[in-house]
Amino acid sequence: LLRVRDDSSYFIAEAAVGAGNPVATGDRVPVTGSLPGEVLEAIQPRLLPEGGTDTSAEHDLGGPLMAVPMRSGNRAVGVLLVGRLRGGPPFSESDLELCATFVDHATVAIELAEARLDRERMVLLEDRARIARDLHDTVIQLLFAAELELRAAALPSATSDGGDVQHAAELVDAAIAQIRIAVLALSPGAADSLRHRVFEVMSELASTSAGRPHLTFDGPVDLVARGALADDVIVVVRESLANVARHAMAHHVGVAVAALRGTVEVEVWDDGIGLPDDPARSGLANLGERAARWGGTFTVTRRRPGTRVVWSVPYDTEGEVE
Ligand SMILES: Nc1ncnc2c1ncn2[C@@H]1O[C@H](COP(=O)(O)OP(=O)(O)O)[C@@H](O)[C@H]1O
Ligand SMILES: [Mg+2]
Repeated sequence: LLRVRDDSSYFIAEAAVGAGNPVATGDRVPVTGSLPGEVLEAIQPRLLPEGGTDTSAEHDLGGPLMAVPMRSGNRAVGVLLVGRLRGGPPFSESDLELCATFVDHATVAIELAEARLDRERMVLLEDRARIARDLHDTVIQLLFAAELELRAAALPSATSDGGDVQHAAELVDAAIAQIRIAVLALSPGAADSLRHRVFEVMSELASTSAGRPHLTFDGPVDLVARGALADDVIVVVRESLANVARHAMAHHVGVAVAALRGTVEVEVWDDGIGLPDDPARSGLANLGERAARWGGTFTVTRRRPGTRVVWSVPYDTEGEVE
């Protein structure tokens, strides 16, 4: 199976099987002047009886040969060569047809799989870029501010009552919390944790919402919110962020997920236009029902400016690991 990648003057052999195959996986076969090159150009399958091929070519077994282009749109992106050893029975027209149909199907499947991989890679890269930005914007700023305060407090002329140092310590704490979130987002295997799913929802909605949501976690949320409860938390985050994106015209949006003192609480706030006086409720009603099912509450309140929704349900504290 010969594919053309970035360098269109060579095929790369992406797969090579069979006894006596003169091509090995990873080999390069020139496009110009080769039989597969001609097939790539013409985008036409070809059948070559024994002796009709140039036996000096490094891809040639010397026996009967089929060469079928991988069609993608109106061009070819590769060629499947199927050959027999010298003296083997020739291929028929119907062999060629069968092979061409197979290659068409396989090409579609390969391209779909590659497109999916590309998308996943993009999401990952974007997520990394976002985490890097977040680290820069929050952590570095926090630590920088803490540094300044500590330096000021250390001056001989300082008239500090310890408040500066206390505040600097709080800034460092906040920086640690942000680093924790970043580490979690980057750690492999965290893919199905609740935190990771919240990140995913945020990246899904990133292009539509009011900037990056300000995200905080508190308490052992991954341990507490699992299964159906975790699914509901995700629904709440997704619906609430979608509402902010669609209705709020906000500059800032925040998401806080906490598991503390027997309660899982999801808060989503924005600084947008606020709820209308008599909002039609569909998504919001659904969130209320989801809270009630767990014996919890769902409230929507006005901020000045903006909206705050709080979804709060009790969880079983038995066996809780702090
Ligand atoms: N964050 C928000 N800011 C402003 N208005 C909101 C916000 N969330 C919801 N709304 C208002 O409340 C209405 C009901 O929301 P919802 O029940 O989710 O239904 P939907 O999103 O399908 O309109 C919305 O149509 C919108 O007018
Ligand atoms: Mg809605």
